Parts: sequence; C-alpha cells; structure tokens
Amino acid sequence: MRQFRNTPIRQSWKKREFDLEPLVVSRTQTKVHDENLLILADNLKAMKYLLLNGFKEKIDLVYIDPPFYSGASYYHRASKRTDLAFKDTWSNQVNLYMNMIYPRLSLIRSLLSREGSIFVHLDWHASHYVKIAMDEIFGIENFRNEIIVKRGRKKNLLYQFEKVDRMHTANDIILWYSKYPSTKFCKPLVPADLKSKWMSFWSNTNRPTMRYSIFGSAPQRGQWKWSKERANKAIQNYELYAKKYEMNYPLEEYWEKQGRILEFIRKRSTVKYPEYWIPPKTRKIIDNLWLDIESYNYSTGFSTEKHNALLERIIGLFSIPNSIVSDLFCGSGTALVAAEKMGRRWIGCDSSEVALSVVKERLGKTRYDFVTL
Ligand SMILES: C[S@@+](CC[C@H](N)C(=O)[O-])C[C@H]1O[C@@H](n2cnc3c(N)ncnc32)[C@H](O)[C@@H]1O
Repeated sequence: MRQFRNTPIRQSWKKREFDLEPLVVSRTQTKVHDENLLILADNLKAMKYLLLNGFKEKIDLVYIDPPFYSGASYYHRASKRTDLAFKDTWSNQVNLYMNMIYPRLSLIRSLLSREGSIFVHLDWHASHYVKIAMDEIFGIENFRNEIIVKRGRKKNLLYQFEKVDRMHTANDIILWYSKYPSTKFCKPLVPADLKSKWMSFWSNTNRPTMRYSIFGSAPQRGQWKWSKERANKAIQNYELYAKKYEMNYPLEEYWEKQGRILEFIRKRSTVKYPEYWIPPKTRKIIDNLWLDIESYNYSTGFSTEKHNALLERIIGLFSIPNSIVSDLFCGSGTALVAAEKMGRRWIGCDSSEVALSVVKERLGKTRYDFVTL
C-alpha cells in the first residue's frame, strides 16, 4: 500500500497535546463581554480565553478561512505601502499544518452552541486532510455539505501554453459541520426571478396508490404527482379559469387576483400527460454549488479578502439575529462586517496586526471590546 511521504500524518495529530492546563489566568483576565469582541492573539490562546470567559457552548456560527497550506506569503497593499500580513508556509510538511489546525478545530467545537455549526473555507491544498480531521473532531454524522465556491479573479493562464499538465482550478471548498446531528436549519432560500411554467403531472416513481383516473385515464406505471383530491381541485380551478376568465386575464394575473393560492392542472390534446402549473418564484432553494456569487473581493488591499456576498449568505442562512458569530482567522474582517450588518453579535480574532488594522478601519464606529492577549 502507498505510504504518505511525511508519515505518519494522522497519528501525529492524535498525539498532539492541547489541554487547557497552561492557561491559568489571573482575575484581571476574566471579564464579562457583552459587546462584540475583537482579539489580537494567536487564536489558540484566544479560544482558551473565550472558554474561560463564559463562551463555552455559546457561539452559534463559526466561519474560518485559515491559511490554505498554499506555501505562499500574503500582503496588505495600501496606496503608499505594502505590508506582510501573514505567511502560509509549512516547509512542505502537511503534518505541521495539521498540527496547527487540529487543536484549533477541537477548541472551536467546545465553543460551539448545541445548535451551532462551523464553516471552514479551504482549497485543494489541504481540504481533504482537514475533512478527515473534522470527521474525527465533529463526527461524520455532523458533516452537512461541501460547498463549492468560486475562486478569485485569477485568469486561466493555460491559453499561453502548447501543452498543459493540469486544468485551471476555479473553485474553493467550504466544509460545513454541525455540532449535533439533530440540528435543523431553515430552508436555504435566496432571491430569484423564476417565471411560471407548466410541467408534466406524471412522474416515473412507482406508486400504484397514486395511479387514479383523471381526464378519463389512469397511468399504467409511474404515478401522478399529487393526491387525487388535490388534483381534482386543481383541475376544477383551471376549468373555471378557462371557461370564465381566460379571455380577461393571463393565468398568472388571475392567480395573483385570487390570492396566489390556487393550483392548476390542465390537459392538452397534443401532450400525452396532464400538466400542472408552477407559479413564478421570487426565491429559490440553493444547493451546494454557489457559483452565482463571488467569494473573493478586492476592496481593502488585503490579498485574501473574501466577499461580503459569501459571508452574508452563510450568516444570513445559517444563523439567526442576535446569535453569536465568530471568525477566529478573521483577516480583513469580512465575516465581522457581515455579522454586524445582519444584526448578529460577533467575535473576531487574528494574530496579525496588519490584518487587525484593516478590520478596525472597516468597522469604523462600530462598538466592540478590543483585547490583546
Ligand atoms: C486567509 S486569511 C483570512 C481572510 C479573511 N477571511 C478576509 O475576508 O479577509 C487568514 C488569516 O488567518 C490569520 N491567522 C493565521 N494563523 C493564525 C492563528 N494561529 N491565530 C490567529 N490568526 C491566524 C492570518 O493572519 C490571516 O489574516
């Protein structure tokens, strides 16, 4: 069997000790934080501080966008200067990276509320290792989705070459885990502009009890989509519309006037099966492919800045107003800005002073406690 080059990867994470022992805090370090909180510190220290200051099982949504194990350094480019913001260099040793991320994910689990969940933004470099670690830490049963988001604006540079050794990577990955498997979320609805349409009322799922007769015939296989009672009512609705109102209004206008509740089924002689009407929709349920929004932004000069649209979607869909949202690798603070805008409480942390200076500027007059550890 093939061996990992820097074996044993998984065992080395497990041997890692990261208990709370060294964290003996003085009275002056215990503080009640009612405000939002911005911490300048290594987040391992920050999380221990949070655990000792009343945040155990209190955070409802954690989004982190840690270093990706990319091997690069990242900068903040302002008009007159360029500052090193952070390094994502690990001497090509994924063990070192995993030994950084594993204990941090474990402490995040202790901070998460019972209904809480965590979103970890990564890319192809290490998402597969981190997923295995998260399966261990959060439990496979708490895995929710791998969300595919757009990578930055980088051009596909492959056009310039005669031959290539791989395809351009156009996506990042967000791993979503909950704390407990029983947690349920509201349906993930986003704005949409979907026109009304007619669809076949027959489906090939085989349910003999749903093969009743309408328009004088019943299907031999498959099924009708709705119960007999509901279908008959929808047929009557359409017959009434066709007889009395079709001359005056298009169906959609009639449906609006009737309070947007009526359902319709029709049978056209040219089409084999009856059809049911799907009303126009202003919202749609999304799946795990989030290619409709940007995930990177370039508004602050912080080179790994994520897009507000991405953070507003995560926070808006998977947390509720006044709950506590945290980003412990907050960089330029996109998650904190989105949380503030959406009426959530927030806790941010970063070990880079360069990053936090960008956060402070973005937050402007927003109220928060600032702690340096
Ligand atoms: C990819 S950036 C986050 C970008 C952020 N999502 C944004 O929208 O700007 C990762 C951040 O993690 C911070 N970081 C890395 N290791 C850390 C640690 N151990 N503790 C706290 N912050 C850390 C870096 O300083 C960097 O700002």
